[in-house]
Amino acid sequence: MSTVTIPLDLREVLDDAWQAAKNVPGFLGEEEARFLGMVAACVPSQGSIVEIGSFKGKSTVMLAKVSQHYRLGSVVAIDPHNFYNPKLEEYRTAPDASSYDEFLKNLDAAGVSDMVDARRAFSRDVATSWNSPIRFLWIDGDHSYPGAKADFDGFFPCVTPGGIVAFHDALHEFSGPIRVFVEEVLRSEQFGPAGFVGSIAWSQFRPEDGALFKKQRANLERLGARLVSSRPEEDLDLHGISKMLFKLNRYRIPRSLMQPQEWASLLSQSKPQ
Ligand SMILES: C[S@@+](CC[C@H](N)C(=O)[O-])C[C@H]1O[C@@H](n2cnc3c(N)ncnc32)[C@H](O)[C@@H]1O
Repeated sequence: MSTVTIPLDLREVLDDAWQAAKNVPGFLGEEEARFLGMVAACVPSQGSIVEIGSFKGKSTVMLAKVSQHYRLGSVVAIDPHNFYNPKLEEYRTAPDASSYDEFLKNLDAAGVSDMVDARRAFSRDVATSWNSPIRFLWIDGDHSYPGAKADFDGFFPCVTPGGIVAFHDALHEFSGPIRVFVEEVLRSEQFGPAGFVGSIAWSQFRPEDGALFKKQRANLERLGARLVSSRPEEDLDLHGISKMLFKLNRYRIPRSLMQPQEWASLLSQSKPQ
């Protein structure tokens, strides 16, 4: 465990980063973006920030702006930019339309082109040769169960102790992120503090003392497992009673943005309170 330090200018840096990111088309709410920025700035670990799933660059810009300010190195952004997901169809002009040109344009407009190591590829293809340390693994790519599981399995071995793993859309109607978070993260003694912010599910990799956070993880695991069991394994749209049940279970999950000092003291604990 290492102490988390919140930089004095973090609030202004997150404000500036959000100003740059907010008009980029995408799927990230303001609280979620601020959380990502805070993690990028403060995670008490070594290695790269790796993003799986960039689309037009909303979260990429947020992460890269923060990384640029604190000189934390480039953000690795992995996305084939031609992935067809029927659920995203309304955001595309055609099933095979590419978001790559807009992604590059948005990075340029935000002044972070040189802060992003863009890999135009499927995550599984990058994972096969990936072997460098990761301090923040941000998973927002293929939200099916096999997709989210492959992303976790492919990159988690390189997450450094103290690093953060986060999944987007864990509280939306996708089967993958919440199931992988519950089964691989919340049920693992290797993970410590954990939580939800908006639809982001996150936890800190604490291989040495994760067991101390068992109770906190178990509480979240119980709430998350209800969501997993209230939806089918496939990514089918929920309707009627199952949709109501899903929403009721989701409503029970605390997911407001933690203030930086609160987050820092949670991570700095050597024993859960
Ligand atoms: C929900 S969007 C990402 C949103 C983005 N993070 C933002 O802030 O707006 C999901 C993206 O994941 C990409 N994707 C899907 N499967 C992928 C995979 N196996 N590897 C990498 N990217 C993938 C899609 O091309 C799509 O652009």
